[in-house]
Amino acid sequence: MRITVNVDGTRYTDEVEPRMSLVHYLRERLGKTGTVIGCDTSNCGACTVHLDGHSVKSCSVLAVQADGCEVTTIEGLARDGQMHPVQQAFHDNHALQCGFCTPGMIMQAIDLLADDPDPDENAVRHGLEGNLCRCTGYQNIVRAVRDAAQKMAPGAGPAAEQVSDSEITSRAPSHTGGGN
Ligand code: FES
Ligand code: FES
Repeated sequence: MRITVNVDGTRYTDEVEPRMSLVHYLRERLGKTGTVIGCDTSNCGACTVHLDGHSVKSCSVLAVQADGCEVTTIEGLARDGQMHPVQQAFHDNHALQCGFCTPGMIMQAIDLLADDPDPDENAVRHGLEGNLCRCTGYQNIVRAVRDAAQKMAPGAGPAAEQVSDSEITSRAPSHTGGGN
């Protein structure tokens, strides 16, 4: 089937098998290996991306379901060489150990903060309960999300402005891929 998807600001048109999952499309066709596969059974959240602005586990979504949609991966967050405030907060709060869960955690945290810009600790833990960290570094992950929330609050300075500027647009050049 032929799909057209906007990923991290670039439009792609590809032929895909109907059974191909979105995470495999992102990694194998587009080379977006920042999105990782932990379980491939929708348990761990490592593969979390945004589909039309909402987090999804991309191992549980078919590539054909993303046809006509906007996908944002961890690789599409930085702007002008500046990390997204949530990425920066993970760095500042040492919220990763091996880093395998980190892309999915960050994508889920951004979605969580879009729904609740000032979550308390319980709300952060609840919002991230679908994302597993095998290094069990949850304490600093929660701290990082709350730190990001403060820095992204309206009027909090450059980080807040960066978020408002960071909407993915579909103006980027198009790319037509081949394949089966
Ligand atoms: S790889 Fe998708 S949830 Fe684990
Ligand atoms: S930092 Fe290793 S799995 Fe979370």
